[in-house]
Amino acid sequence: MKLLAFAASNSSKSINKALVNYATSLLDSSVQVELLDINDFPLPIYSSDLEEEAGIPESAHQFLAKIAGADALLISYAEHNGGHTVAYKNLFDWASRANRNVYQGLPVVMLATSPGPGGAGNVLSASVNSARFFDGQVVASLSVPSFYDNFDPDKGEISNIEIQRQLREALEPLTNERIAGEAV
Ligand SMILES: Cc1cc2nc3c(=O)[nH]c(=O)nc-3n(C[C@H](O)[C@H](O)[C@H](O)COP(=O)(O)O)c2cc1C
Repeated sequence: MKLLAFAASNSSKSINKALVNYATSLLDSSVQVELLDINDFPLPIYSSDLEEEAGIPESAHQFLAKIAGADALLISYAEHNGGHTVAYKNLFDWASRANRNVYQGLPVVMLATSPGPGGAGNVLSASVNSARFFDGQVVASLSVPSFYDNFDPDKGEISNIEIQRQLREALEPLTNERIAGEAV
């Protein structure tokens, strides 16, 4: 079972990256985790003119190839003004031009967090609701509100017991026999 995990943020101090790192640490050893950094896929801002002139840049194909090589995805979304970060939206848009089915039929666990009480719930809802258009099977989702109140940066873990329980529950499908079985 190969899990591709990443934060949909290009911040080097990303709290969503911290959440993804912690979430993957909760998975059992049957799950082979690859942590991806979206900064490793540099791209110009999408433009149809640029696409017509020069085609789809290699980074977009490389991102799709990473997904193609995985059995499941774990994504944590940062929220900027109610939507995706520009960096992730741009990567997704370019990738979708090469293959509309960006998620390539994979089961996806979607997380999101922000410093505020909304916990990036808007971008999470948008991502969950649109996944089917990109051939994604969302198997669980969780918004972690008020990140700095609920995460211990020194230990690198969720300190709120109830949220920790919810996170473990959200991750369960990744070790669930049916999904793991489908994946191999
Ligand atoms: C331009 C901008 C817009 C933001 N808009 C929102 C927002 O709509 N909702 C929210 O909860 N947080 C918002 N924030 C705060 C982010 O949640 C916060 O910066 C968080 O750390 C981003 O996640 P990341 O650290 O994983 O990149 C915004 C931050 C920036 C810089």
